[in-house]
Amino acid sequence: MTLDTTPKGSMNSTPLVEVQNLKQYFKVRKGMFSSVDLKAVDDVSFSIKEGETLGLVGESGCGKTTVGRTMLHLLKPTGGTIKFRGEEITEKNIYDYRKSMQMVFQDPYSSLNPRMTVSDIVGEPLDIHKLYKTRKERDARVQELMELVGLNSEHATRYAHEFSGGQRQRIGIARALAVRPEFIICDESVSALDVSIQAQILNMFKDLQEQLNLAYLFIAHDILVVNYMSDRVAVMYLGKIIEMAETNDIVQNATHPYTQSLLSAVPIPDPETARKSKRIILEGDVPSPMNLPAGCSFCTRCPVMTEKCVNELPPLVDRGNGHFVACWNQ
Ligand SMILES: Nc1ncnc2c1ncn2[C@@H]1O[C@H](COP(=O)(O)OP(=O)(O)OP(=O)(O)O)[C@@H](O)[C@H]1O
Ligand SMILES: [Mg+2]
Repeated sequence: MTLDTTPKGSMNSTPLVEVQNLKQYFKVRKGMFSSVDLKAVDDVSFSIKEGETLGLVGESGCGKTTVGRTMLHLLKPTGGTIKFRGEEITEKNIYDYRKSMQMVFQDPYSSLNPRMTVSDIVGEPLDIHKLYKTRKERDARVQELMELVGLNSEHATRYAHEFSGGQRQRIGIARALAVRPEFIICDESVSALDVSIQAQILNMFKDLQEQLNLAYLFIAHDILVVNYMSDRVAVMYLGKIIEMAETNDIVQNATHPYTQSLLSAVPIPDPETARKSKRIILEGDVPSPMNLPAGCSFCTRCPVMTEKCVNELPPLVDRGNGHFVACWNQ
């Protein structure tokens, strides 16, 4: 099945990035002679426009990082297509797209080599893609990138280990920006940072988006952070998108019981509203991704589950205004 997940109102413009029916199955050894498929990403479709942010949220292990890595062909897709400006990205032409699409990772401590200077780290993509003619031009571009992410450009010769977590994440972002990408996958890019630093980096992502017309796939397990950052939000559960809509629609009109449970876990600052709102505690076990139910993967924990849910997979259907839901009962 090919699903049109282009948001309404943008039907005529080709999306910047389009993912259709993406699958990533890992072969996992089972005993001596056999293996089973771990369906980390199973039939995932979405599109992202120029300058837009799509949030991708879900619990640990639901397949968010695998979606990102597969989109960039860091993992070969088991199935499905990834298009950039309407052109399919394949194993053969991925190098033509390496500059257009970048990824910023979670841990600023392990993703940067502490023994490299900022100039080495930020300038490396410039070296790889031969993006300067003279040393002076290279140094100037490194300084420009450092300033763009709010770092003191006089610190270009300092080592990564001399910087704080937030500053290191800025270095990682400067490195991603070096090749002038149009699309960045931010994978838990602020999760390892203190809350106050998180806010600074999130706002910087927004400023950069406006200045450079960047599109983001913003991956996080924290639905508050995702909602704050995103124009639209896709909610994943065990390898599948189970709900996707404009952020306002997700916040005010969450339809899938899983999305409702994620939102109900968010702390509410106003005690009066907090008293009235009900926290949905999920019971039941999460099935193994190597042995998923034939029907809805959420059925083992779902408060509105029926017989049909166990046996039949609910399709992701547009309920109007680009609000997609995969549920038989809501
Ligand atoms: N290289 C691999 N080989 C086998 N299984 C893998 C591999 N990479 C990921 N997985 C499995 O795929 C599933 C999805 O993992 P993934 O890292 O994409 O989840 P995630 O949503 O990013 O989780 P987190 O929030 O913890 O980062 C998990 O069950 C994970 O164990
Ligand atoms: Mg991850």
